[in-house]
Amino acid sequence: MLTDKRILLILTGGIAAYKALELIRRLTECGARVTPVLTRAAEQFVTPLSVAALTGEKVYRDLFDLTNEVEMGHIQLSRSADLILIAPATANIMAKMVQGQADDLSSTILLATNAPVMIAPAMNVQMWDHPATQRNLTQLYADGISVVGPNEGDMACGEFGFGRMSEPVEIISALAAHFGSGPLLGKKILVTSGPTYEPIDPVRYIANRSSGAQGAAIGRALIAMGAEVIFITGPTSVPPPKGACITSVQTAQEMKDAVIAALPVDVAIFAAAVADWRVSTVSNKKLKKSIDGPPIIEFSENPDILACVAQMKKDRPSLVIGFAAETNTIVANATAKLQRKKCDWIVANDVSPETGIMGGLMNEITLISKTGAEAWPRMSKEDVAKQLAERVAKALC
Ligand code: CTP
Repeated sequence: MLTDKRILLILTGGIAAYKALELIRRLTECGARVTPVLTRAAEQFVTPLSVAALTGEKVYRDLFDLTNEVEMGHIQLSRSADLILIAPATANIMAKMVQGQADDLSSTILLATNAPVMIAPAMNVQMWDHPATQRNLTQLYADGISVVGPNEGDMACGEFGFGRMSEPVEIISALAAHFGSGPLLGKKILVTSGPTYEPIDPVRYIANRSSGAQGAAIGRALIAMGAEVIFITGPTSVPPPKGACITSVQTAQEMKDAVIAALPVDVAIFAAAVADWRVSTVSNKKLKKSIDGPPIIEFSENPDILACVAQMKKDRPSLVIGFAAETNTIVANATAKLQRKKCDWIVANDVSPETGIMGGLMNEITLISKTGAEAWPRMSKEDVAKQLAERVAKALC
């Protein structure tokens, strides 16, 4: 499954480091070549000798080990791998990665590398839930870092919750998915994301509020499961998913044109907050204030991209998924939307300001299909994306 894949495994200092020994054993069984790097703190939990014995490789420990610089400098070390895996990844290494610190061998490797990076976080539940760690996590996702786990359960410190490192088999599945053996391999999936901007004049526009965070997370989750993702996005400050084929648009009409041009696809997910109306006559000069009062702006309706694709005779994707951002009678409104637009599923959520969903890290959705409505618990947008991607994979098989 991982034959001849070169994995640079960084162990950082946490009690879960003991599981890394089992992980190394399983990685080598799967055919991977593991080059180990230990932080000083990791050496408090596992010995370099046991890691060297299990990997059959030299253990790298020190940035200023000149012999290593002659044999293999840290730059070369950082680039010689097909993937860098950090397991366990502490809150500290996550913070250092976000800040771009390079004060020891592992952080320097992470700053110098051009290889993909995957982390398996492990820490106390309060540390994991801390806003600082959650902020760092969001940034790491945005920087294209893959994250596996953590799991929920009893912890070494006696507390219960999220923070346990994923089991070695789960980490190996994530690696297998990364290397292109995921369940969505060979599937082409289109995702729309972000708002559209409808110009009023050269300096003004109207738009829906949308950070684009949920759409980008969906793109990343699909890519992690092996899909080819076509990502069509309106203007956002959230980075688009790495590895997707990205088209940036401004208006609803441009988004529709880009969607039609991308067909046929296996699945289409419409997470964009498309403006329902555009200004009928866009001024080519900035509108000026006048003694006659504010301008009267006339609107025209934008094309409904989701309804258009869901009702296509030719080239209709086998699964068409819409979103419904509502502020009241969520399920009834979203179910009516599913029927009106003729899509297969609707991901409905309550975006009233008091939910904190709009622009926040968390989401609470109801997945509506022709067979009914399923309320999901509140979870991170990344987790919503992962679970939705799993549902998509299930529906396609
Ligand atoms: N959508 C679209 N094209 C539009 C408007 C919406 O593709 N012109 C898609 C969105 O991407 C989303 C779904 O339709 O997947 C529902 O969008 P929403 O704004 O909630 O619904 P509307 O149809 O605009 O209905 P309303 O604003 O009246 O709630």
